[in-house]
Amino acid sequence: MITVIANLKGGSGKSTVTFNLGLWLQMKGQPVVAYDLDPQQTLSDVAEVRREEGYTPPLQVNQPRDSLIDDMLYHPQQTQVLVDVGASNMDAMKQALSIASRIIIPVPPSQPDVWATQRFLNIVSELDETNKPEMRVFVNRADTHRAIKESDETEEVLEQLPGVTLIPQRLYQRTVYRRSLSEGMSIFEISKRSKAVDEFNRLAGILYPDLEN
Ligand SMILES: Nc1ncnc2c1ncn2[C@@H]1O[C@H](COP(=O)(O)OP(=O)(O)OP(=O)(O)O)[C@@H](O)[C@H]1O
Ligand SMILES: [Mg+2]
Repeated sequence: MITVIANLKGGSGKSTVTFNLGLWLQMKGQPVVAYDLDPQQTLSDVAEVRREEGYTPPLQVNQPRDSLIDDMLYHPQQTQVLVDVGASNMDAMKQALSIASRIIIPVPPSQPDVWATQRFLNIVSELDETNKPEMRVFVNRADTHRAIKESDETEEVLEQLPGVTLIPQRLYQRTVYRRSLSEGMSIFEISKRSKAVDEFNRLAGILYPDLEN
């Protein structure tokens, strides 16, 4: 299954989610191959830190090649192929979107991020008609203060967008995600029990209901 983690705007959490989801899937016994199609190479860098530190299992991260589509389609059906994309390589992003089974779209709770998400959905709708990937959005970096209503408002807008399903599980703004990227560890390796881990487990369980528990 090819899952692309995408949005147009930087900083929405694509690489953070891809890295942690890849390690979560491996923890559940799934074979995982990730692709880093963003020239910034955040996912490749964090996987390299993980390898250097000797944390196991490593996360296999492939780079874009000339035969990118063939390369991504080459893996057996049971391999979880995760693709991290960036707007600075639109060609690679569109190639990945054109063969995706599923697109996961993290959206920070702000108006510019909602606009960028709408633009992103327009791009997807202009792609090859024959591939109709499932599209799921969720709020990432939600504010932990209850009084701040941006996440509620963002979810209300996301629910109205055509062709996408809102995942009713936010990831809140938690410092452990920054540590995760800088140390090359998943959030569940850094702390076994925390609010961030509970939230991420619930999100991943919704995305992969067969793998829960
Ligand atoms: N839920 C969260 N709580 C706190 N920090 C987060 C969260 N999600 C992501 N971050 C942090 O925000 C920063 C940007 O995240 P990340 O690099 O994953 O975004 P991105 O969408 O891949 O960005 P880019 O488009 O630049 O590749 C990172 O420092 C990351 O650790
Ligand atoms: Mg990134």
